[in-house]
Amino acid sequence: MQFTAVNVAKRVSRSTWIPFALARPWALNGTQSTSRAFATTTGARYSRLSDVRRRPYLCVPARSSTSVIQAPQEEKSGVSEQEGDKGALNSMAKPQPVYRKDYKPTPYLIDQVHLTFQLGEEHTTVLSDLHFKPNYQGDSPPEVVLNGRKDLKLQSVKVDGKDVPQEQYEVSEKLLMIRGLPKGPFNLQIETQIKPQDNTSLEGLYKSSGNFCTQCEAEGFRGITYFYDRPDVLAKYTTRIEAPKGPYPVLLSNGNLQASGELSDGRHFATWEDPFPKPCYLFALVAGDLAVSKDSFTTASGRRVDLHIYVQQQNIDRVAYAMQSLKAAMKWDEDVFGLEYDLDLFNIVAVDDFNMGAMENKSLNIFNSRLVLASPATATDDDFARIEGVVAHEYFHNWTGNRVTCRDWFQLTLKEGLTVFRDQEFSADMRSRGVKRVDDASALRRAQFPEDAGAFAHPIRPEEYTRMDNFYSLTVYEKGAEVVRLYQTLLGQAGFRKGMDLYFKRHDGTAVTCDDFRAAMADANDVDLSALGTWYQQAGTPAVKVSTSYNASARTYTVKASQSTPATPGQSHKDPVLIPLAVGLLGKSGQPLALHLQGSKANGSAGDSAVLRLEKASQEFVFTEVPEEPVPSLCRNFSAPIKLEVEGQTEDDLIFLVKHDTDPFARWDAAQRLGQALMIQLYAAAADTSKNGSSSLAERCSAAGGVKQSLVDAFRAVLQDKALDGAMAAALLTLPGPTELQAMIHHADPVTLHEVRKYVVKELAQQLRPDLEAAVKRNDLPASEEYSPDAAQAAKRVLKNKCLGFLAALGEPAVYSMLLQRFRDASNMTDEIAALAALTECPCKERETGLSEFYQKWKDENLVVLKWLALQAASNVSGNLAAVQELQQHPAFNIKNPNNCYSLFLPFVRSPVNFHAGDGSGYRFLADSILTVDKINSQVAARMASPFTQLKQFDSERQTIMKQQAQRVADTEGLSENVFEVVQKSLKD
Ligand code: PHE
Ligand code: ZN
Repeated sequence: MQFTAVNVAKRVSRSTWIPFALARPWALNGTQSTSRAFATTTGARYSRLSDVRRRPYLCVPARSSTSVIQAPQEEKSGVSEQEGDKGALNSMAKPQPVYRKDYKPTPYLIDQVHLTFQLGEEHTTVLSDLHFKPNYQGDSPPEVVLNGRKDLKLQSVKVDGKDVPQEQYEVSEKLLMIRGLPKGPFNLQIETQIKPQDNTSLEGLYKSSGNFCTQCEAEGFRGITYFYDRPDVLAKYTTRIEAPKGPYPVLLSNGNLQASGELSDGRHFATWEDPFPKPCYLFALVAGDLAVSKDSFTTASGRRVDLHIYVQQQNIDRVAYAMQSLKAAMKWDEDVFGLEYDLDLFNIVAVDDFNMGAMENKSLNIFNSRLVLASPATATDDDFARIEGVVAHEYFHNWTGNRVTCRDWFQLTLKEGLTVFRDQEFSADMRSRGVKRVDDASALRRAQFPEDAGAFAHPIRPEEYTRMDNFYSLTVYEKGAEVVRLYQTLLGQAGFRKGMDLYFKRHDGTAVTCDDFRAAMADANDVDLSALGTWYQQAGTPAVKVSTSYNASARTYTVKASQSTPATPGQSHKDPVLIPLAVGLLGKSGQPLALHLQGSKANGSAGDSAVLRLEKASQEFVFTEVPEEPVPSLCRNFSAPIKLEVEGQTEDDLIFLVKHDTDPFARWDAAQRLGQALMIQLYAAAADTSKNGSSSLAERCSAAGGVKQSLVDAFRAVLQDKALDGAMAAALLTLPGPTELQAMIHHADPVTLHEVRKYVVKELAQQLRPDLEAAVKRNDLPASEEYSPDAAQAAKRVLKNKCLGFLAALGEPAVYSMLLQRFRDASNMTDEIAALAALTECPCKERETGLSEFYQKWKDENLVVLKWLALQAASNVSGNLAAVQELQQHPAFNIKNPNNCYSLFLPFVRSPVNFHAGDGSGYRFLADSILTVDKINSQVAARMASPFTQLKQFDSERQTIMKQQAQRVADTEGLSENVFEVVQKSLKD
């Protein structure tokens, strides 16, 4: 296969704009638990738990990969680095990276797990009965080394029912080691005690709103009992739950309910059996007082599946949309991938305290309540779209993640990249394909590109990690999804489907690698896809330069493309990657030209796009029979996650593309490029105070030409185009954001950059006022029409609210009171919050009125209060830090709840004015907050620390003060491994 011509944006319907934020479950993680791969030594001296004291490891630099390598296979026993932190037993706990290359299977397999939970308010007892099977060579049984956590209290260890003598086992904060095991299979019985009520890490078994729940991915199961806590040990589970019936009437676990009944003392029990072998990270348990909403789905083969969504009683009227989304997802997976659900019951449980978005535990998905609960009054259009996407995402994991799982955590993108790709395609089919693609591409650029260019840059399949939790990243998820999309772009939809079918046929019920996925795709289509391998190894966003030339007499059009990937930390050399570059050519009047690509089998075939296969550092492609000099439309449908530079592309070309390009992404991208060029130019003028130091920023900008008429005209055309989908129009009217601009202007001052952007918005608002006002009117929902979160209605709202945002920038009292009125009159949360958001950026009395009325109205609704926190925290009103600090003390704010932290600290960081305040107060506040949160929940704290990985982007003064704060965090005694890994990388030169 050489060139494929595909129509890259086929199914276009309608949609809504879904911003990125926390849509994905990619929060970070943390407990004080382990990191694996201590170099193993033979004859290690094991100490009792009391002998092993954790030492602040912070002064110890992470070891280089070579220093961890030991004489290979030195361990006679067959114990490997990957099977447990055996080293932690005899060395002090220093954070040690684990390496992908060190993978070894465990010396035993566990194929049956029987768990009994005796849940209690004081403590919970966990009885674990494990069936071990030899997986080692030779006939002397090696030790069993299981993962644990320091809050596990070991009560007893038995082998085949007999107590293991004390001298035959050792236990530390992170491990349980047992030796002297019998030959052949045996049963190991372990009793542990835990205190879920004290578990603030929200990993393992914990309590949320009075209910018990679990979170085991990635390494939380070791907080429940000692186990091979790694994804390649697959077992069948039965789970018996015993609890007081009064407070915990609902008892749930994976699989099918086998038995339930009463016990003495007002207790009851339920026994669940999961017939599918699974890794322990997919284990789940829920016990509590929950209301349930029931529905069912009949599969293509006619099986009835019961669908249950459990929530707190007061939320039972807010689950309909999640249920509808679940059914749509089940149907879609049958239609598009031929994948049916495999059990008779599918449960979703919503909990308020959750580190991430949601979790795909087998048949018992657990969700952050913000991704389940929705009503028009309390949820925005974006919330609805996110719920639809995430419910589908978790459901899709049943095949991509659960039935076929990951061999080790380095392969995380195998399940996440693929499942994100699947949820993107699902949402594209439910809503507008074009807008969805723009949305995803835009989010990738805004958030993942900086990650790929910063101190934490890593390949989608990392080579090493210290805390796996830190690698639930935009790179693994979102760039990973783009890499999966490369297969589909190269193979076409039918070829991709063939590859998926073979992948399941080969690997169902097993734990595999990204290479296995690529092999299935290649073999099913009989093509060589080895060139895609580099995408898994290299960090950094490839930069592609394109230049074009037209030969009128030969009627040929030549596209020259070259690529390079910038160096990233620890990876200076980069190879070229395989980049499918989708291209269309537009003639003078905007019409698509027929494509004839020299030397291509795909010559002249389908559609008006061709996919160029760029795989060398530099290549030339020649189109023949080109009747006139075309305007090229490049990287259509965002065919690869690259940064594209088009030599000689003029402003006229871009305006032409905004007008005529039929590819939604390329059209949007052209508008972005216009905005970028303008703001880069104005920033230079604004930052240069040498000529007229006393002038205002606005004066310097307008002296430099201000906002060009051509851009105003292009925006006006969008506003006046009544046929255009509102969500697409809103996207076209969205100027490039601060993070993208920051990356384009070397060491820019973020506050000046923000002011320039504000200047541009205000200029546009002034010049477009009548069109903005008309668009608002045109898109207001008639009073007679009822709210619906569907894409068509949402598209009107997103455009209307975009226009209101522009109008707010005018700074006029009349506009402020109009916004306050709209806020008060709003019939749904989307409009209510949009009007308030516009006001929140303006220092006016309506801002305060609106914020306080909103709080009074919604103070009893947790999820709505989160929006209130986030709006204020992100505000660029100057001196807003004080307000944010006050919010931290507000009765509505609960620092133990991850959503609260995500809604206060993360939005604050997005305020250029206040986070990047020149006096360093914003950075200091962040550092203080990280340290406070770290003591409660280190996953959340590590996520908060990620802005430090970007510090090199800023001007040198800011770099200095940011570094000081990162250093202060790094030097703090008792810091978690999670936060340490992030700040330590940020501080490396
Ligand atoms: N696996 C979850 C998802 O992407 C995310 C997650 C990871 C949730 C770790 C909790 C803990 O669907
Ligand atoms: Zn996922």
